[in-house]
Amino acid sequence: MKAEDKLIPTVFTIFGGAGDLTWRKLVPALFDLSFDRSMSSHFSIIAVDRVSLSDEEFRKRLHDGVNKFSRHGVVSGKKWDQFSAHIYYQQGDFKKSETYSALRVRCEKLEKEWKKKLQMIFYMATPPVMFSEIPKFLGDAALTEERKRSRIVVEKPIGYSLDSARELNETFTKSFLESQIFRIDHYLGKETVQNILAFRFANPLFEPIWNRRYVEYVTISVAEDIGIGHRGGYYDKAGALRDMVQNHLMQLLCLVAMEPMVSFEADEIRNKKADVLHAVRPIPLNAVNQYVVRGQYDNGKTGGKKVCSYREEDGVSADSQTETFVAMQLFVDNWRWQDVPFYLRTGKRLPLQASEIVIQFRRVPHRSFPAEASLDWQPARIVISIQPDEGIILRFQAKQPGPKVLLKPVEMRFNYRESFSGPFPEAYETLLWDVIQNDATEFMRADQVEAAWQILMPVLEVWENEKPVDFPNYSAGTWGPQSADKLINKQGHHWILPF
Ligand code: BG6
Repeated sequence: MKAEDKLIPTVFTIFGGAGDLTWRKLVPALFDLSFDRSMSSHFSIIAVDRVSLSDEEFRKRLHDGVNKFSRHGVVSGKKWDQFSAHIYYQQGDFKKSETYSALRVRCEKLEKEWKKKLQMIFYMATPPVMFSEIPKFLGDAALTEERKRSRIVVEKPIGYSLDSARELNETFTKSFLESQIFRIDHYLGKETVQNILAFRFANPLFEPIWNRRYVEYVTISVAEDIGIGHRGGYYDKAGALRDMVQNHLMQLLCLVAMEPMVSFEADEIRNKKADVLHAVRPIPLNAVNQYVVRGQYDNGKTGGKKVCSYREEDGVSADSQTETFVAMQLFVDNWRWQDVPFYLRTGKRLPLQASEIVIQFRRVPHRSFPAEASLDWQPARIVISIQPDEGIILRFQAKQPGPKVLLKPVEMRFNYRESFSGPFPEAYETLLWDVIQNDATEFMRADQVEAAWQILMPVLEVWENEKPVDFPNYSAGTWGPQSADKLINKQGHHWILPF
């Protein structure tokens, strides 16, 4: 028996299978998994969508996506034929029960062919309006009853506000148990993000200083140089707070601030993360502007090229008041972090792409060196670089060689690509593998999603009522509006430029 045959036979159904996500992310990731032989040979992808396509037409389209986005590069005809023989296209209306009975018939047929009990994964790659419809139809078609063998994967946005997220979560649980619901946040599949727990809890070195006694402040930045591409329609309704902060930045905050887990069980880790969100000090409604600032990009230059303003992007209204930049200060009210500011920022059309977490340490309690020795003195810091340069940098003081005592900040660097030879799986690959393995550790539970919304609700409420008067307020290719610097400088802190 080949090793992969020990794996659970799986039917991976993608609702919205003809869409961009399937083409760009899901199928390339599934291909990469299969290329590295981690996939069972009893494996089928069924893409369900409205447009009419034959299996052959659909496979051809996917081949192009795999050539572009697989980490194995251009895929030879033979390799592709082997893989694509597992892909089927099913035309169907998501709102008609026939679609689901047809799916059921296919699964039963495959089960007979394979002579093995299979598991069913339902991936929602549809527009969010369908999120509340499809689970119900799946439930009615009795496709969700095998609790350990069927699960649903949901992309963000999980709701648009706390209430809508709750409503959606309730809808899911009418057809699925919470243990069958995998809410995906692709940041949690990134190697460097996963490494945060290893760095913190697999070394005795850092954890003892990872608290209010030693840490002065923390910054979490997710900077993007790209604009919004063709996603104007979606983005203009969402904005940076919903698109990035509610999910990716909140998850990074959880990983940096959480208490050590007792075991590596999914719920144990998720409990610890949820604790962080519950401990975030509520942002007072009457002081939102003191803690949170927003921005929108004007025209400017990124990567040496002229780019248009947000309001000129396709699908965006000419007087749009949607934010493309957010910076905020949060506090985590618990023993470990009381009064340590956490600054979060994210924006589009910033000078470069860089996601970094910086732990800035306090000054030493007493400076024993002569004043002139420490003219160049800088606080110690740890920089966790998530992308594009994946690694960790520790900055500390060293004595400059020479007869005089002169201190100088120096760096110790760990770089993923130098230390490990790969392969480095893409985030979706890691997460889809976890779904196939029924491991929910890196997926968000309902309570986490709702707790993250809860933190942001005062901001959304105030922004809804107080429209920005200064948009656009930063030029493309700059580090956001000046208000973001003011927010952090108030306490003598700084955004740290990417390394
Ligand atoms: C997505 C957002 O979730 O994350 C996009 O919707 C954003 O707006 C993207 O560009 C960033 O992901 P990454 O992996 O490129 O940092």
